[in-house]
Amino acid sequence: MSDWTPSSWRARPAGQQPTYPDEPALDRAVAELSTLPPLVTSWEVERLKGQLADAAAGRRFLLQGGACAERLDQCTADVITNKLKVLLQMSLVLTYGLKRRIIRVGRFAGQYAKPRSSDTETRDGVTLPAYRGDLVNGAGFTAAERTPDPDRLLRGYEAAALTLNFIRALVEGGFADIRHPEYWDLEFVEHSPRAREYQRMVESISDSVRFMEILADAHVSEMSRVDFFTSHEGLHLPYEQAVTRRVPRRDGWYNLGTHLPWLGMRTCELDGAHVEYYRGIRNPIGVKVGPAMTPEWLGELVEVLDPGREPGRLTLIHRFGVGRVASCLPPLVEAVRATGRQVVWCCDPMHGNTEKTADGIKTRRFDNILGEVEASFDIHHELGSYLGGIHFELSGDNVTECIGGARGLAEADLRRAYESRVDPRLNYEQSLEMALLIARKMATRNGRQV
Ligand code: PEP
Ligand code: CO
Repeated sequence: MSDWTPSSWRARPAGQQPTYPDEPALDRAVAELSTLPPLVTSWEVERLKGQLADAAAGRRFLLQGGACAERLDQCTADVITNKLKVLLQMSLVLTYGLKRRIIRVGRFAGQYAKPRSSDTETRDGVTLPAYRGDLVNGAGFTAAERTPDPDRLLRGYEAAALTLNFIRALVEGGFADIRHPEYWDLEFVEHSPRAREYQRMVESISDSVRFMEILADAHVSEMSRVDFFTSHEGLHLPYEQAVTRRVPRRDGWYNLGTHLPWLGMRTCELDGAHVEYYRGIRNPIGVKVGPAMTPEWLGELVEVLDPGREPGRLTLIHRFGVGRVASCLPPLVEAVRATGRQVVWCCDPMHGNTEKTADGIKTRRFDNILGEVEASFDIHHELGSYLGGIHFELSGDNVTECIGGARGLAEADLRRAYESRVDPRLNYEQSLEMALLIARKMATRNGRQV
């Protein structure tokens, strides 16, 4: 890595970067960011890498989830608590169904920068810079809001720190009593033909948790303490560079702004700035893989990003859509296998299944999301590889952004509580139901009744 530095990406073309009108102000913000204490530590990062190595080998399973784009105005106790709660409950359900330990990774505490298909947006003849996430500019359609503002880099970092601080405190403090059925909002279950089955699973999980606690003589939250990791798309390179640090007694450089940064699908050109940045950091890294990815490209990408063939280094997050996963996935699994690497394969069933309603609202269908997850389990199984994780855009609140699920959310419901400014998320009930259905499928495959 002698030719790599945290800023060597600057010699390459960098996609998806905002254009700041005041460059010296950007430099000042980045300089200040570089002096602030890190959000995470290298030993947490290494611990996650070790756990991901286990997932690659089929011994653990990754659950990654959270907002498409976090919002600064939603850095609130309720939003954070509810997100943590749904991720925790989903992970218990998955532990039960998959009989694997779950690695919990949030899309939170830093998921503030978004790639966009166009640099600008035009409304009624007025053209302004596109909204690129709260780290960059505001969503409101005015010149003042849309002008990229470097101070937002500091505000985003501060909000990430507040979020993570609260998450750490909740997890350390026992959080909430997940054994109590009333803590599980299961009203939606009544609307499902599977109501009894869902109830039975949740009761059985609660029993198992109680049983475990008796054996271990500890509260379950103490047994799995702080195993909540953070992740975000490491898109804004000046920001990522500023949080890239050396640590005493370890070699190399760590991105200490998050545990698991991922490389988005729009910025994974081999000779691009993002690949250059990612190849040099010591973190485990995620790579989004979409239908445009060829086997040759992926083969080269994994060589560049993981020259040391390090266990746990790469998590390949595939997102093809329910209709394309069967044709797109197998050649890529073969291409990676041909390099001799064991990666974590993780299914993102959200980004290939986005559609627009007749009214122009972005949505996704519960059945298509579930369909891509189920197909992915089957395809990996047939290929003799292992699906080691799932990646969701979700909210812990009862937003109405995706269609379907037990309560039968329809197109007409979408306007009621649509809060996302970017992609539609599963709500609390849909997320939990998704986990129950995945657990049910996998338990049934393994010959167990649920
Ligand atoms: C995302 O995860 O929100 C995203 C933009 O994904 P992708 O790069 O896969 O399109
Ligand atoms: Co998204």
